[in-house]
Amino acid sequence: MLVNTREMLDKAREKGYAIGAFNMSNMEILQAIVQAAEIENAPVIVQASQAALKYAGVDYIEAMGKLAAQKASVPVAIHLDHGTDFNLIMLCIRHGFTSVMIDGSKYQFEENIAITKKVVEIAHAVDVSVEAELGKIGGTEDHITVSEKEALYTEPEEAVRFAKETGVDSLAISIGTAHGPYKGEPKLDFDRLAEIRSMLDIPIVLHGASGVPDESIRKAVERGVCKINIDTEIRQSFTEAVRKILADNPAEYDPRKVLGVAKEAMIETVSGKMRLFGCSGRA
Ligand code: G3H
Ligand code: 13P
Ligand code: ZN
Ligand code: NA
Repeated sequence: MLVNTREMLDKAREKGYAIGAFNMSNMEILQAIVQAAEIENAPVIVQASQAALKYAGVDYIEAMGKLAAQKASVPVAIHLDHGTDFNLIMLCIRHGFTSVMIDGSKYQFEENIAITKKVVEIAHAVDVSVEAELGKIGGTEDHITVSEKEALYTEPEEAVRFAKETGVDSLAISIGTAHGPYKGEPKLDFDRLAEIRSMLDIPIVLHGASGVPDESIRKAVERGVCKINIDTEIRQSFTEAVRKILADNPAEYDPRKVLGVAKEAMIETVSGKMRLFGCSGRA
């Protein structure tokens, strides 16, 4: 069933587990995510980035997402990931997404507040919840030093002011994760997370979670993260499976055989993350 993202996250926050938010851009990825949720009896967020919407079409993502949610025996929310284009955010709201992210992290603090507030006002009028980002998460950059990275981390006092002034429903914070695969082992600032959690009364979101060791994810959930975004590890499972089946069966030409094994591999990956995040059995 299609559900309100805010209710899903508030429940996770109250009970102390995290919801997995998994990126999708085609039918097989979406089906893998929702099938994993059913196997695990877990509530789930399926999300699409602006690039994914451009690739598949907002209408296709909407139609597939809603159908998958409708057919599912578990709660499913549909979310726009990293919205930066105001018009596209409005389009997603109109197409029935249950939540949107406004990513104003590239702007100065006050500017980020202003654009986030504008989206929150409109989204809340139609009961769509909003995630924002404070601090810069960015991609994996090996040339960047730890102190340079820490300069981009979320300041606890700013997070409190940001939440109060914008009325946002959840907040993505920067504590050392990065989008994409990691070069070395990521070091997360758990003290900062705990401090933000103790001061902030809305759900905290962790981006860039692919490649973060399980133990660090467990610690982050213990310290109050309620939504965890995974994209890269799903892409890797998909691509590894496709490479293998094509290498093992060079004569294969049926896309269903190729994508079928990719789907199975993605189901395994997503199910494993759900167990790790503690959302298994919470539907
Ligand atoms: O946060 C970024 C997500 O992994 C989406 O990536 O913009 O390539 O779809 P994308
Ligand atoms: P990963 O690609 O590291 O899983 O990050 C996903 C993400 O944060 C999507 O918003
Ligand atoms: Zn992200
Ligand atoms: Na990552």
